[in-house]
Amino acid sequence: MSYVSQLRTCRAAADLVLILVAGAALAGCAGSGAGLDAAGRPVAPGSGNGPLTADFASIQAHVFTPICTVCHAGAGAPQGLRLDAANSYALLVGVPSNEVPSLLRVKPGDPDNSYVVQKLEGHAAVGARMPFGGPYLDDATIAVIRQWITDGAARPAAADAPAPFAVAAVVPAPGDVVAEAPRQLVIEFTAALDQTRVDAGSLRLERLDASGAPAGVVPIRLATTTADARTLLAVPHEPLGAGRYRLVANGAPQTGLASLASERLGAGAELVISTFVVGELP
Ligand code: HEC
Repeated sequence: MSYVSQLRTCRAAADLVLILVAGAALAGCAGSGAGLDAAGRPVAPGSGNGPLTADFASIQAHVFTPICTVCHAGAGAPQGLRLDAANSYALLVGVPSNEVPSLLRVKPGDPDNSYVVQKLEGHAAVGARMPFGGPYLDDATIAVIRQWITDGAARPAAADAPAPFAVAAVVPAPGDVVAEAPRQLVIEFTAALDQTRVDAGSLRLERLDASGAPAGVVPIRLATTTADARTLLAVPHEPLGAGRYRLVANGAPQTGLASLASERLGAGAELVISTFVVGELP
């Protein structure tokens, strides 16, 4: 998608959301819209409902979900930055910006050098102030986001009992067709990784032929992005060409990925965690 058509899509989406918000407000008058966010999803009390506070769940519910996901969602998200609740933490914290790769989108403890803050304040080296086209966030809202980063950019507390060790989110997601070759793949797990087992054999990125059969391995560099080692960044050595790809995790007993609590990934063998397409399908 070209930049301009991307913008048109965003603008159209913005209009649509305004209509939806107006609709939700009306439904709220009739007594049926309470407890839903702008996208009609339920919000937890104290997050989207209450005042904005300097924690990730509150920022997600007040800012990222209602304002940013108009554009920053799905396979066509600008610069690959998806800010929906399932992906935003993994794609922000400790992850290099696409526009200025020497800066992290969120650098825990350092809001001035966090690219997302520069974009929100309008002094980033590349591109426009966010939200693109405005209206921009007020100073008080940006101050709360800065405070969350200053405090260490903690992830949201788990709502329920600890989940079994598994992939929580992967970008590009299974089935995605992404127009621009992603500079980096991001894999978030439900629990902290045993970092001594993260090595070149932990994940394999395969190029697939038209029939879906493996046709080669793409060299990648792996790194953890967060202090709690729950997110892996896989950076291809070379930009990915158009075609089909599949990301395979090694869950083998001795060599594969495991959690700090020594839980293995999957059934103890190889696990396909995403199959996606870069560019248009032939
Ligand atoms: C109307 C569409 C739109 C909205 C709404 C929007 N963005 Fe963006 N965003 C873009 C586009 C287009 C780009 C790439 C061009 C640019 O940077 O000017 C971008 C780029 C970015 C980048 C750079 C990513 C990188 O890796 O370099 C960040 C960070 C960002 N946006 C954050 C946000 C945040 C946070 C919000 C919500 C407060 C938001 N954006 C709302 C369209 C939007």
